Amino acid sequence: MSQKVTVIDHPMVQHKLTLLRQKDRSTNSFRTLLTEISMLLGYEVTRDLPLVYQEIETPLAKMRAPLIEGKKVVLVNILRAGTGMVEGMLRILPAARVGQIGLYRDPETLGAVEYYFKLPNEMSDRDVVIVDPMLATGNSAVAAIERVKTSSPRSIKFVCLLAAPEGLANLAENHPDVSVFTAAIDERLDEHGYILPGLGDAGDRLFGTK
Ligand code: URA
Repeated sequence: MSQKVTVIDHPMVQHKLTLLRQKDRSTNSFRTLLTEISMLLGYEVTRDLPLVYQEIETPLAKMRAPLIEGKKVVLVNILRAGTGMVEGMLRILPAARVGQIGLYRDPETLGAVEYYFKLPNEMSDRDVVIVDPMLATGNSAVAAIERVKTSSPRSIKFVCLLAAPEGLANLAENHPDVSVFTAAIDERLDEHGYILPGLGDAGDRLFGTK
């Protein structure tokens, strides 16, 4: 199976992404822009959700009208930077359930270490959308997807803002069945595992911790 990567090149997404990358952008503005972009990404990611037709009544007539089929989507937030994408996604999917996975990056090995994991109880037949703004080495994404797969959802998609080629290759090797959605594919990683040109540390910029 070969990996499907969708670059969301909508002009609104690209414009907001450029603003986000700028180093002098305030924490407040970074947060707002990330929420806005996430909403636009959410629109694309949900494009293929299956529909069922139900009979409804408008004020004028009966009709068969489409509704999203199946159980509510589950957004899975990779802590902590994924938090910045959840609110925007919830504007598109207000009834979605939200799971959390806490992973930190070991500064030596750049490997993902899990410290928290919580998903809704009943996951079979659910579609999962995992969010993390930065797909860098891909180690956190690979670990998160592995964990989520143990709950046997119907499908898993991974959504980020920026992807490095190294992270995409890691995901393609380990989870070729998971579709990836990103606003841009950047050049490469630096020696500390940061995406170049990137936008810096998404968590720090989102929470104002640096
Ligand atoms: N995580 C970030 O926040 N930024 C990067 O560039 C890479 C990983």
